[in-house]
Amino acid sequence: MEATVGLLFLLIGVSYGVETFCDARQDGAQCLGTWGGTVFVKLMDQASGAPRIDWMKGATSILRWRNNAIVTNTIMSRSEFIPNNGTFRINNLRNSDSGKYTLKLFDLEGKEKETRNLQLSIEGQSPLRVGAISALVFYSILLLVCVIIICVQSKKQKCKEKLNADLTYVDVRVMQQQGRKSVKQNMEEEVEYSQIKTAG
Ligand SMILES: *[C@@H]1O[C@H](CO)[C@@H](O)[C@H](O)[C@H]1NC(C)=O
Repeated sequence: MEATVGLLFLLIGVSYGVETFCDARQDGAQCLGTWGGTVFVKLMDQASGAPRIDWMKGATSILRWRNNAIVTNTIMSRSEFIPNNGTFRINNLRNSDSGKYTLKLFDLEGKEKETRNLQLSIEGQSPLRVGAISALVFYSILLLVCVIIICVQSKKQKCKEKLNADLTYVDVRVMQQQGRKSVKQNMEEEVEYSQIKTAG
């Protein structure tokens, strides 16, 4: 049982950790991200020395850089701007991150020096994630079949209880997979579930 749970965590972890890179130092860059994954967008070689940088998504300001410091990052909770290599990293990508982004660079006099657009597209579910869900369903069925075989062979009342417990466990896992949740939430729920299981 522990091995199965460990394997599931491994699969879920792999399916969430998809990272993509995008070089947006040229106007009109096309960037791809994976739902739930991370995208590294290289906006410029480095930010230090640039007096003013604005990065917008449509009309919404995402990043504002003034005099070698980040003044605003409106999606700070799941992103980071790395000034050393001019890279903007966005984690936990969602469909609403798709769209046109505009970078504006200004010179020392405050005049607009350069404007660059990029298109970010977020792909639905990663093939890895789909693979992980398929594996989860496969192992759940395998687990059930094993339990049923053991039950038929030993015909003990105790087995029936175990089967019920496993069915509930599988239900919870599949439901968690269907809801689109972060690894953290999954972990928390797993912990809560374990606690209930131990208590009950
Ligand atoms: C920029 O630096 C960060 C942190 O050191 C690193 O994780 C990232 O891969 C770098 N990105 C590029 C495009 O070099």
